[in-house]
Order: sequence, then C-alpha cells, then structure tokens
Amino acid sequence: MRKRQPSSTRRGDGCFWGLFNSKSKTSSLLYISLFLVGAILLIIYASGGSGLLGGRKNVFSRIEGDFSCTLEIPSAIPVLKDAYGGSMKNVLHVGPESCSVVSKLLSEGEIEAWGVEPYDIDDVDRHCKALVQKGIVRVADIKFPLPYRAKSFSHVIVSDVLDYLSPKYMNKTLPELARVSADGIIIFTGHPGQQRAKIAQLSKFGRPAKMRSSSWWKQFFTDRSMEENESASKKFEQAASKFSFKPTCQVFHLSSFH
Ligand SMILES: *[C@@H]1O[C@H](CO)[C@@H](O)[C@H](O)[C@H]1NC(C)=O
Ligand SMILES: *[C@@H]1O[C@H](CO)[C@@H](O)[C@H](O)[C@H]1NC(C)=O
Repeated sequence: MRKRQPSSTRRGDGCFWGLFNSKSKTSSLLYISLFLVGAILLIIYASGGSGLLGGRKNVFSRIEGDFSCTLEIPSAIPVLKDAYGGSMKNVLHVGPESCSVVSKLLSEGEIEAWGVEPYDIDDVDRHCKALVQKGIVRVADIKFPLPYRAKSFSHVIVSDVLDYLSPKYMNKTLPELARVSADGIIIFTGHPGQQRAKIAQLSKFGRPAKMRSSSWWKQFFTDRSMEENESASKKFEQAASKFSFKPTCQVFHLSSFH
C-alpha cells in the first residue's frame, strides 16, 4: 500500500494546489474525502476482515448483552492445557463460533482441533470458510449422531449449545459427545439469569436458551450415569487461579464412559 501512495499524492497534488483557488475548493475537499474513504476501505480489505470484523463482533455481543460462553473459551484454553496436560491431544469443539475456537486451539501448536458448528454459517470470514472446506469445521445438527467414529478425540469441549436443547435431545446429544471422546468432556454453560441471544437470533437457535442451575446439571449427570472428573475439576480450578481466569460460565468436567 505504501507503494501506491506516490501516485495518489501526485494526483492529489493538483487538488492541494486547487485549495488556493477558491473556485475548486469544494471539489478538492471532495477529492480528499473520497481518497480517505478509499484508503480506509483498502485498509479494512487488506487486514482480511477476519481480525477486524471478529473483534467487532465480540464488542457487539458484549454491548448488546448477548452473553456467550464460547467467547470465554479462548482465554480458557491455556487453563485447560495446564489442567489436562499432554492428554489434551486432539480436541473437538462443539458450539457456535467454532471456527474461532478451532483457530485458537490450532494456534497453540501442540493441539489438533476440529469443530462442529451447530448453526448455519452464512456471514463468516474467508478463514472460517477455508476451515469448513477442509472439513476441519463441520456444520452439523447436534440433535443427530455426530459424523465421527467412537473415541475420535481425546477431549470434547462444548459451549452454549446444550442450553438450547430440551432434555429429550440432551439425552441423545450428551452420550454422543461421550462416544466420540476418549478422555473427557468439558461443558461450558450459562448460569441461570444470564442473558442470551437476542430475539432476532431465536429463529436460528430454534428455542430460547434455558439456563440450568449447577444442581440441575449434577442431577442430570447422575441420572445418566455420567461422572464428573473431580481431579480434572480441581486441577482446572487451580490452573484458573494461576492464570487469573474467572469464568462467568459454569464449567463441568466429565469422564468419557466406555
Ligand atoms: C432422559 O433419560 C433419562 C434417564 O435415561 C430418563 O429418565 C428421562 O425420562 C429422559 N428424558 C426424556 C425427556 O426423554
Ligand atoms: C480425569 O482427568 C485427569 C486429568 O486432569 C485425567 O488424567 C484422568 O484420566 C481423568 N479421569 C477419568 C476417569 O476420566
């Protein structure tokens, strides 16, 4: 972009001279504003949109009170790595914005990562489209069996989506998450009272989010003979305080049963 500047300034030169000529003053200003708008668009385009737009999306979500546990996962990743150590080898993330979680996991280097995005992805960036084309992130309805073999992943991380499932579907989905994982499932879910998706988004999610209390979840796990991994929970808490990570969501660590 630097290289292009000389020609633009040369073209601009005429305009700057024109500033001394009151007649063409307006048209000069018009030129300059057009040039500035062009430059800004070029900068946005050159930055690939992903970082810029991704960042903006987060800001929007926060401002509109559209609360999401998925947004917490990037900062939870170092904590999870610390708690699970080398056993966290290949991870499947299930939840909205899966592309961003998968990218973050992949950027850690030592972790292989895949994603299931449960909702249609229409307004995603090029980077996400590439992940979908490579099959790293799949768009799949989690009410149906997941398209993976048993124990395909060491760990499954699921965020937000369970809050939108009725107990009937949760009965099917949670065992599916256990089936495809070998060493554990980590659930990020909202607390009762936390605000979720705007009305405009409800059609996308199908039903409003229902936040369940910690005791509801514990009962749910017990009823389905799913065990919380106490040692992992403890290690996660220790790591969280080490990294000053204070999750606003509930985090559960389950053992994969086989
Ligand atoms: C879910 O499964 C549990 C235990 O397997 C059962 O008691 C319960 O009725 C099921 N709920 C629904 C809505 O299917
Ligand atoms: C519980 O998590 C720890 C990692 O913190 C792991 O080493 C252990 O195998 C897990 N236990 C079960 C039963 O999944």
